[in-house]
Amino acid sequence: MGAPVLPNARPGIAESHLLLNFTDAAAFHDRPPKVITRGEGCEVIDADGRRFIDGLSGLFCTNLGHDFGSEIGAAISQQLSQLVFTPTWSQSHPAAEALGDRLAQIAAPLGLTRTYLTLGGGESVEAAWKIARQWHASNGEPQRTKAIARDLAYHGTSLGALSFTGLDDCRDPFMPLPVPVTFVSNTNAYRHPLEHDEAAFTAALLAEVHDAIIAAGTDQVAMLIAEPVQNSGGSLTPPAGYWQGLRDLCTRYGILLVADETITGFGRLGEWFGSMRLGAEPDMITFAKGATGAHAPLGGVIVSDRVAAPFVSGDALYMHGLTFSGHPLTAVAALTALDIYEREGVFENVRALEPRLHAGLEQLRSIPMVGDVRGAGFFWALEMVRDPDTRDTFTEDEAAWLLRDELSGHMDRLGLLCRLDDRGEPVIQISPPLVADEQVLDRIINIVGEAAEKAWATWMRRRPSDVRSGAA
Ligand SMILES: Cc1ncc(COP(=O)(O)O)c(C=O)c1O
Repeated sequence: MGAPVLPNARPGIAESHLLLNFTDAAAFHDRPPKVITRGEGCEVIDADGRRFIDGLSGLFCTNLGHDFGSEIGAAISQQLSQLVFTPTWSQSHPAAEALGDRLAQIAAPLGLTRTYLTLGGGESVEAAWKIARQWHASNGEPQRTKAIARDLAYHGTSLGALSFTGLDDCRDPFMPLPVPVTFVSNTNAYRHPLEHDEAAFTAALLAEVHDAIIAAGTDQVAMLIAEPVQNSGGSLTPPAGYWQGLRDLCTRYGILLVADETITGFGRLGEWFGSMRLGAEPDMITFAKGATGAHAPLGGVIVSDRVAAPFVSGDALYMHGLTFSGHPLTAVAALTALDIYEREGVFENVRALEPRLHAGLEQLRSIPMVGDVRGAGFFWALEMVRDPDTRDTFTEDEAAWLLRDELSGHMDRLGLLCRLDDRGEPVIQISPPLVADEQVLDRIINIVGEAAEKAWATWMRRRPSDVRSGAA
């Protein structure tokens, strides 16, 4: 058997033969897409040999960086030489069993015991929804067909998951969507009048959730889904008491509470799950991304005994199936990644360095364009404003200029991959691999600072004098 030959990068192929995710293909005329060919540590390298810090962990998923591919690959290779595949339909195999067992141990402090395995975050959200519907039906409440989610939240793009995604641009082309969802406010304190009164802010948010439940019908809502820290909108942390309040409302009205931990699971906030850090008590957790450190596509939903009960007792047969649910390759990738998280003290690293990352980003508030700095763990966002005093935000065109023309050019030149997002107010998002050390974090902070300073300087040259004097 010869050594495997990997494909080489060939110019123009992505433009001609791939339909890329959420990508403006017309922009390739001016700027061809980056073709990333290699990863090393916390960096990736493109076909021209240029290095970039993997400042968003790919898409919040290369939590272990790029140095563990051989180890995880060896485990996968061993698994495939023993058993390529067998379904987890009415049977199982040791890799899926070991993963289910391991996840039950990890999630035990949250009272979650049983996992359904998928291949990604959106699939996990849909799996949770179908569990919720069938759970209510088996409890004599098939009329619970509605859900509650939050403004701007991203829960996936396949049609079921898209129902819970609160982003109009993603939803509009596909209306009507299958699940009727009421969207309530997210936890962006910077844009809320009660920002400085945390208890009142929490109370206002929860009152809105309560009103949404009443308006939908107290016996109509099956599920409430939220991220422990919401990604879209820019690392929106919850105020104290928020998750406890969600728990109380869900218990009171018989609604299943789902924590979508697609991003916050597996160390992003310095714990196995963000729910642990927040003291949240969800009935189900959805996860994906970091479960394998992005070495293979795997997700899942972990449920409590109470939620699993009808499916275990025989009252209900879970009407769901994915050929590759629990695929041996993905299960072994996850098991090995979980070992590495523990062996390398990866979450300890996040906890130890979070204050440094936070403090470094806080210093960037000296740049007038940086209106807010928020986040937790290795999951941060800077909200960009035209005027820090009024918090006046950029128009759509200005935000497009700022993010796509200005900041992205600087980040590219300075060698940082991060997210520049204008779903909601414009934000720079930073979410480095969880193995990043002080040097990597400091480089990220410096690059973000330099890019923001340059963008602000350009903006000031273009701006009318009233804003210029207001911001001085
Ligand atoms: C919170 C959350 N849920 C669900 C998803 C969808 O995950 P996937 O792209 O694996 O379907 C994402 C993706 O970023 C996410 O951030």
